[in-house]
Amino acid sequence: MLAKDEILKGLKTKNIAKKLFVFDSIDSTNVCAKTLADAGSEDGTVVVADFQSQGRGRLGRAWEARPGTSLLFSTVLRPGIQLESAGLLAFFAAVCVARTLEQETGLPVECKWPNDLLLRGKKVCGILIENSLSQQGLVYSVAGIGLNVKQRTFSGTLNSKATSVARETGKEPNRTRLLQTLLTEMDNLYADVRANNFDRIMNEWNSRCSMFGKTVSVMQHDHRVDGSAVGLSSEGGLVIKTQKGIETVFAGDVTVLS
Ligand code: BTN
Repeated sequence: MLAKDEILKGLKTKNIAKKLFVFDSIDSTNVCAKTLADAGSEDGTVVVADFQSQGRGRLGRAWEARPGTSLLFSTVLRPGIQLESAGLLAFFAAVCVARTLEQETGLPVECKWPNDLLLRGKKVCGILIENSLSQQGLVYSVAGIGLNVKQRTFSGTLNSKATSVARETGKEPNRTRLLQTLLTEMDNLYADVRANNFDRIMNEWNSRCSMFGKTVSVMQHDHRVDGSAVGLSSEGGLVIKTQKGIETVFAGDVTVLS
């Protein structure tokens, strides 16, 4: 079980996790963080859980993890940035996870658009950003991170597509230490976010992405976009050169074909 006092021991962050809630079990840390944010909870508030009964993934999917196997947490962010930059917050979270995994495993981490992290080609982490908008702009954003840590197997078809820190390192990772490193990385890069300066974040993300120049197929609900992945737009969309011309997509699942 994760314990609040253990997580806070030695944590020297300035903004992230100054307020920390730790649950054994919850519906979804994103739902809880949004409720807290709606009630005025401060910038950097973190909600952690050992188990989620209704964990949410992207595109309305579920995110499931057995109790005590993962890091499941959400952070309330109130960076005061322009609405156009809100789509870049997923890249901030992804780079923080990538830095953490590289430090803790010594393995290279791949960033896959829109916000997956891969170890040896398999998904180790998913990120779900949920924004609250008003006419004035971004009120807050909740950055939900689901990181597979201790799983040795996954159910069904996931077993060949997903992985965990334990699976790739062959070691028994310490979830508390991983979380402390991740919160510290978030705190380190958050100054850039608050300054609306995403250059370093996007450079780091791009340097870990191997998709550009390759032929991709992006599945959206009712639509498929095929072409060559050119790069990212200023708002974080994937720019694809198709037979009809340049198209930018903002959601979907990417398959890299060649
Ligand atoms: C994805 O589909 O890849 C995104 C998964 C995000 C899962 C995390 S787990 C912690 C937080 N709470 C949720 O309900 N979802 C996110």
